[in-house]
Amino acid sequence: MMRLPSSLTTRLALAYGLATAAILASVAAYLSGALSAQLEGRDESELVGEVLLVRHLLREVRSEAEIRADTHRFADIAMGHEGLILVVRTRQGEPLVTLNPRNESVPPLRVLPATTQPEKSMLQTWRPKNGVPSRGIAALGQLGDSDKAVEIVVLRDAGYRVALMREYRHQLLWATLCGAAVAAGLGFVLARRALRPLRRMAADAAAVTTSRLATRLDVGRAPAELRELAAALNDMLARLQDSFSRLSEFSADLAHDFRTPISNLIGQTQVTLAQSRKTAEYEALLESNLEEYERLARMIENMLFLARADHAQVALDVRTLDAREELDKMAEYFEAVAADREVALTVSGSAPVQADQTLLRRAVTNLLDNALRHAPAGSTVRVDVARAPTAADAGTSIRVSNPGPAIPPETLPHIFGRFYRADPSRRNSAASTGLGLAIVDTIMRLHGGSVTVRSVDGLTVFTLKFPAEPVPMPAAAAAVAVS
Ligand SMILES: Nc1ncnc2c1ncn2[C@@H]1O[C@H](COP(=O)(O)OP(=O)(O)OP(=O)(O)O)[C@@H](O)[C@H]1O
Ligand SMILES: [Mg+2]
Repeated sequence: MMRLPSSLTTRLALAYGLATAAILASVAAYLSGALSAQLEGRDESELVGEVLLVRHLLREVRSEAEIRADTHRFADIAMGHEGLILVVRTRQGEPLVTLNPRNESVPPLRVLPATTQPEKSMLQTWRPKNGVPSRGIAALGQLGDSDKAVEIVVLRDAGYRVALMREYRHQLLWATLCGAAVAAGLGFVLARRALRPLRRMAADAAAVTTSRLATRLDVGRAPAELRELAAALNDMLARLQDSFSRLSEFSADLAHDFRTPISNLIGQTQVTLAQSRKTAEYEALLESNLEEYERLARMIENMLFLARADHAQVALDVRTLDAREELDKMAEYFEAVAADREVALTVSGSAPVQADQTLLRRAVTNLLDNALRHAPAGSTVRVDVARAPTAADAGTSIRVSNPGPAIPPETLPHIFGRFYRADPSRRNSAASTGLGLAIVDTIMRLHGGSVTVRSVDGLTVFTLKFPAEPVPMPAAAAAVAVS
């Protein structure tokens, strides 16, 4: 198969040239056809006219002898008609006048009676050996007023016409080829000019680097057809810039959050090693170190979970679960912690839920952990499950609410971010990684659901919405809804 040239300019130029060639060729075919038909028509009229002329001359002679004596009178009428053969002969076939410069053989033609008026439709076609089909006519012509008649044969050798047409077609062919070549050249120049904005755009795009992600292509200067492309590229740049800055922030946070436990470990260990200590002091150090190791291990485990979810590597095993049963189990698990903090924990409602059991437990655990931590002593943390009230928004929602100081509205949009703690004093707390809600958010997005938060009048409520039919979404998509 023929391969298209890779350059768009060359392709356009070729297309331009071919289109022009096709148009010129059809016009040329039409013109040569029309001319050929016109020449043929003229030849035919001439043949009929010749017969009439010869008949007219015959009226003025009285005998065959008179014709023989003055043949050039007849010869004159054929003058200037290229390719014309004229024969006047007696009815016995004896030639009186013969005008046949190339000595073509004269075919036997049907002879029209003297009384018949010749017409184009009576022309007969004659095909000489190796020749071009020629047209001819034979008719009787009356001598004077006598009833004597002679035979008139007029033939036209079409060779000259064919040669004329051949030359004409030759010229048309050249004109077509030259026209197409000029069109292709012109197309090349025009296409190059038209594609200039594309080259400019490529140059602009080439200047984009990670440190210059804020660069945008000039949509206003681009031609209408390229505006969409430029806008799409700009959107892509904006998304890249956004992801890139989030990635930078994330790695900065990551470094920061790993540094704290590690400097705690180094500090404590250095102080303890500065002098010899009692066994109990070493034990205390190791215990404290263990806490930091556990925090680091939890952080790494959480980070790995988020990273795998980001790359859609977390396989969901979504089943229909009894939400109430799950929540009761988790309440039981948190009973000791709740009692320790003098906080009551209640579960209410019941509904089935479409979810992955492990991930559901993990999300609710993270919410309960936060709620119990922030609820003041003597208060109640409530967990409540319900089917969504409307058919349009079918699904199951799980709400975890706790009284306590409200989360400031300006921090609400951030609490689902990674490493975010609303309370700065928790930054260095061994219990906090700041990843709990980020994981809840990721889990909900993996289920095609959502997590929302409301924190007003001393009551903080987190709501998990599981869709009736899970529509797993890529973890990176869908923004966090905050109400
Ligand atoms: N129920 C709540 N009441 C008040 N503030 C909350 C509540 N839940 C979360 N927050 C705030 O949101 C921040 C982020 O919570 P998240 O669970 O992500 O991190 P964390 O609890 O600090 O750490 P981790 O969950 O890893 O132990 C918390 O530091 C806290 O300031
Ligand atoms: Mg938490």
